[in-house]
Amino acid sequence: MRTYIWTLPTRIFHWLLAIGFTTAYILGDLDNFKNLHFAFGAFVGALIIFRLLFGLFGPTYSNFKDFPVGLKNQIEFIKTYFSKTKIYAGHNPSASVVMILILLTGLICGISGYLLYGTENKILNIGINEEFLGESHEVLANLFLILIGIHLLGIVGDILFHGKTGTFQSIFTGYKNTETKNAKLNNFHKAYIFLWLIVPFYIFYLAYGLPVNTKDKQTKIENNEYYEHEDD
Ligand code: HEM
Ligand code: HEM
Repeated sequence: MRTYIWTLPTRIFHWLLAIGFTTAYILGDLDNFKNLHFAFGAFVGALIIFRLLFGLFGPTYSNFKDFPVGLKNQIEFIKTYFSKTKIYAGHNPSASVVMILILLTGLICGISGYLLYGTENKILNIGINEEFLGESHEVLANLFLILIGIHLLGIVGDILFHGKTGTFQSIFTGYKNTETKNAKLNNFHKAYIFLWLIVPFYIFYLAYGLPVNTKDKQTKIENNEYYEHEDD
């Protein structure tokens, strides 16, 4: 018996987030692709804001109230990990924590990127220096990457030890091999998803158009700082 766990918006969000993060991360270090970096970074931030809201009123399993994050759940999960008795239809307790951390880190990383951009280009003055913002943005991007590594290890664990549940396949098909309540979208969800599929792409377009401070880059090149930074 199969149960519908991840509705289409959750699965679309997942793959757009994966593409958005991977591209933003790779482009972060490449000076010729700054606009694309801003665009993919802002896209990730916008996607996540919508996912966080969806977590408050979304369907069963995608709703944060169905994320078993409590300590008791964590202990039970660890104790019963190798016994085949317990099946988690939505995220398991540890995955729930990792998912929430991925969402929060991704959001803060996107915001820090915007603050860094604004400070570098003298559009914003939030009283935090550029160097600190740059370091924070880099640390957050790497923390995001580490969390994805943990996420992927969790999936490998699921394939090896709970393969019958079909967790891996579920992010493609929406279904897991268990018998419980199906997730269902109501009309409000459907209307909301429409916005979710439009606004992040619009933010992508706006961020792509942000002017890149080429004068600053030129000064860095002339002072030899540009290449030093590349070597870090
Ligand atoms: C940059 C790469 C990735 C990111 C940022 C990411 C992030 C996430 C997030 C945030 C969720 C929670 C979905 C939600 O509740 O809305 C999730 C779930 C999931 N992801 Fe990924 N993911 C990535 C790559 C992958 C890859 C490569 C796979 C495997 C093919 C994968 C398999 C899954 C599965 C199976 C789930 C559902 C887990 C469960 O049922 O508890 N993810 N991922
Ligand atoms: C979650 C999404 C994002 C990720 C994963 C990400 C990742 C990165 C990475 C890995 C770097 C290189 C850090 C280094 O080695 O110095 C970087 C740099 C940077 N990012 Fe992002 N970023 C994101 C979002 C954004 C956004 C939304 C903006 C601005 C609109 C932005 C602006 C910048 C700037 C200005 C730099 C410094 C580039 C330089 O001067 O060398 N980032 N980012």
